[in-house]
Amino acid sequence: MNDTFVLTATALAALAVAAPFATRRLRLSLAKHPSLTGHARLARRVAAWVPGYAYDEAGFFGSDGAPPDVQSRRRAALQRLQGDFAQRFARSLQATDAARPAISDLQFTGAYRVPFQYSRHLREQLRVPAFVREAAGVTITDLDGNVFYDLTGSYGVNVFGVDFYKACIADGHARVQALGPLLGSYHPCVADNVQRLCRLSGLDEVSFHMSGTEAVMQAVRLARYHSGRKRLVRFSGAYHGWWDDVQPGPGNPLPPRDSYTLREMDPRTLAVLRSRRDIACVLVNPLQALHPNAAAPGDSTLLDGSRHAHFDRDAYTRWLRELRTVCSERGIALVFDEVFVGFRLAAGGAQQYFGVPADLVVYGKTVAGGLPIGVVCGRSRWMKRFRDDRPADICFARGTFNSHPHVMGAMQAFFERFESAPIQALYQGLDETWNARVVSFNQRMRAEGLPLRAANLSSIWTIGYDAPSRYNWMLQFYLRAHGLALSWVGTGRLIFSLNYTQADFDAVLERFVAAARDMQADGWWWHHPQQSNRSIRRGLLREMLARRF
Ligand SMILES: Cc1ncc(COP(=O)(O)O)c(C=O)c1O
Repeated sequence: MNDTFVLTATALAALAVAAPFATRRLRLSLAKHPSLTGHARLARRVAAWVPGYAYDEAGFFGSDGAPPDVQSRRRAALQRLQGDFAQRFARSLQATDAARPAISDLQFTGAYRVPFQYSRHLREQLRVPAFVREAAGVTITDLDGNVFYDLTGSYGVNVFGVDFYKACIADGHARVQALGPLLGSYHPCVADNVQRLCRLSGLDEVSFHMSGTEAVMQAVRLARYHSGRKRLVRFSGAYHGWWDDVQPGPGNPLPPRDSYTLREMDPRTLAVLRSRRDIACVLVNPLQALHPNAAAPGDSTLLDGSRHAHFDRDAYTRWLRELRTVCSERGIALVFDEVFVGFRLAAGGAQQYFGVPADLVVYGKTVAGGLPIGVVCGRSRWMKRFRDDRPADICFARGTFNSHPHVMGAMQAFFERFESAPIQALYQGLDETWNARVVSFNQRMRAEGLPLRAANLSSIWTIGYDAPSRYNWMLQFYLRAHGLALSWVGTGRLIFSLNYTQADFDAVLERFVAAARDMQADGWWWHHPQQSNRSIRRGLLREMLARRF
């Protein structure tokens, strides 16, 4: 009897201890996005499982079961493109071929421009140049003198046009020339930059770093230091640089142990934030508003037509407000990673654009007038790096090149221009301009019977495809042939600088239409009436299983 009593009491006590833990664990599981972007460990396992294989010549053109005449058209088209590229881009290609063996990044980007199944044959047939010699206005000129409209936006750095940045760098260098690259002391322009950053962000203190990745690291470290908690929350699909803790999925051999990847725009995430005591900060990349919970849309995974993007400003604003409330209630640092969108959406950045204040804001890319930079702005309560009452308990952050005079000079030149009337005027009706351009793009594509549609967050665009085709990624090469320069991720991310005039935009649109017409005529969008995005995905899975086993 006594034994039974003791056992029951022990079981109940164990249950009482375990139940809250189990509830918390369950809540956390529910807040994970069902896709692979929400399950980093599984995503890594899947990535490790995917077998390496490549289509041979026949498979390359006929992987969707296209009839022989369509395959012949595709074959002839690739040959034509090859000849065209070889002739027009001869010097740029020669330089690229010579440099490739010793530039790891070039080998990587070259291999992952298109889905891996197609990559090998494509690289054998169609070489893509990486070298250019000039940029001006909204164009880039390669080594052979070909002029392309720039849709790369220099990874987001180029907000105001490349000439703006050339001027910032030249002006900045002139300002600090007497000091040169002396490090450790500050050039007076540092104090001015700090004042402007505090004013712009509405925050109290600033620290300078050498890249966006590094600045994100510091923001998270500060949040951990001041909260005394170790977990960081990031959202499915969001990019915050390539530091281990913010990159739990494929691409990082060392899985972080202290990061939670949760669903964005979902009440289950709020429930986790409300109930746990171990969360130091929530990292928000507002670019995700264009494709919540999905990874950056690159053409290397564009194997069907299901890529989707849509920006709902009201819904995202509501989400940020909810995050703000719960973070304030729970003492969690709300960190806006504005490295990408910083000065692109509004003069006051995402805080102003969405009307939601953050505790820490990270800027980068554009803010040093075209030179490398990462900046953390924050409330004093989050920024301080030591404690008066415990002098040995510090939050260490250094960096040889922090506050480099030339970077700071270019930043000051950036801010002076940025605050000028002509640049501020660019923000007037900015969204209206770019939304109208997206509408005209989509109307034109529909009128032409072309299966393209664009979605945008202001001047950042994603191209989607109505065709359930395995070959949508081919468009990037047609666009290049028609004088449009894209970054290596292809049509998933077009970045326009704000100096694009309506005439420039119209010219880009005409080239898009011409490129897409060619691609259509060459048979890449042929598809069997029963082919759907789902059937493509099933076919690919079958293919992989067959290769694997
Ligand atoms: C939102 C965001 N955070 C951080 C980074 C990393 O910045 P960097 O490439 O300067 O290290 C990027 C880069 O694209 C970014 O878009």
